[in-house]
Amino acid sequence: MLAELSPALIAHVQKAAKLLAAQQRICVLTGAGISAESGIPTFRDKQTGLWENYRAEDLATPNAFARDPELVWSWYQWRRQLVADKTPNPAHVALAQWQQSASNHQQLTLITQNVDDLHEQAGSTVTHLHGNLWRNRCSQCQAPYEDQAQGMSDSNIRFDESLLTCPHCDGYIRPDIVWFGESLPAQAWQTAEDAAAHCDVFISIGTSSLVYPAAGLAQLAKQNGAKIIEINPDPTPNTIVDITLAEKAGVVMPLLMKHMAELS
Ligand code: OAD
Repeated sequence: MLAELSPALIAHVQKAAKLLAAQQRICVLTGAGISAESGIPTFRDKQTGLWENYRAEDLATPNAFARDPELVWSWYQWRRQLVADKTPNPAHVALAQWQQSASNHQQLTLITQNVDDLHEQAGSTVTHLHGNLWRNRCSQCQAPYEDQAQGMSDSNIRFDESLLTCPHCDGYIRPDIVWFGESLPAQAWQTAEDAAAHCDVFISIGTSSLVYPAAGLAQLAKQNGAKIIEINPDPTPNTIVDITLAEKAGVVMPLLMKHMAELS
């Protein structure tokens, strides 16, 4: 695999490893791209099959759910089915190993925009900014809907497309996910802001950096003196990056870990 990588990329990875090995507080923000190599399409990929004529941005909104709850619920049931058998890839695993092995002199805070649980499956402790695909709540009274809560990602999941109603208020049940136009969970956002504002290095992995407020975390880190590393095979609008590692996360992360281990 190493032979296929350009010398420029390897040099950039070595530079990133050197920087990271010398710093204490690391904040990592992941997006859909980190799960792409596990087989989960990103939001910029065109949707397939039954959903090819729909855009995620038009379905993941409170208005879409108010207008046509069945449509939005079936889309999420379809997404759950798509994600259910997916497993962590080398990028998730490398991050989990790094987080677990971080010694006293290094602290790694992992923040994700993803609603899958691949970071947890790999063994990471992670803060979810955009909610959790495997949890439901009432769209009216907000009560958690326990019936299909944790454990939905096991083999007993029902991907029934019929709407569920809340046992307390009869409101429709929705996925516990942050939709466009909705606020982020306050505690998760606080954790993310604190980690970004106080880190020495901020690493952005597999995110298009288009969706705010999460996209603003790199700027917050930069304003407070952090160095910014971006891992993404494609360019993003993020103009404050110090080191760009333009390759897939599943390729870059294990290589980065290898170079960091060699320095320790
Ligand atoms: P996007 O789908 O916007 O962007 C995915 C990014 O991953 C793109 O920049 C790709 O170039 C990059 N990418 C693709 N494959 C990759 C790989 N193997 N390794 C590294 N990078 C790769 O996903 P997000 O930035 O996460 O919000 O999107 C942000 C939010 O917008 C999502 O959380 C979601 C969406 O609408 C909600 O659902 C609320």
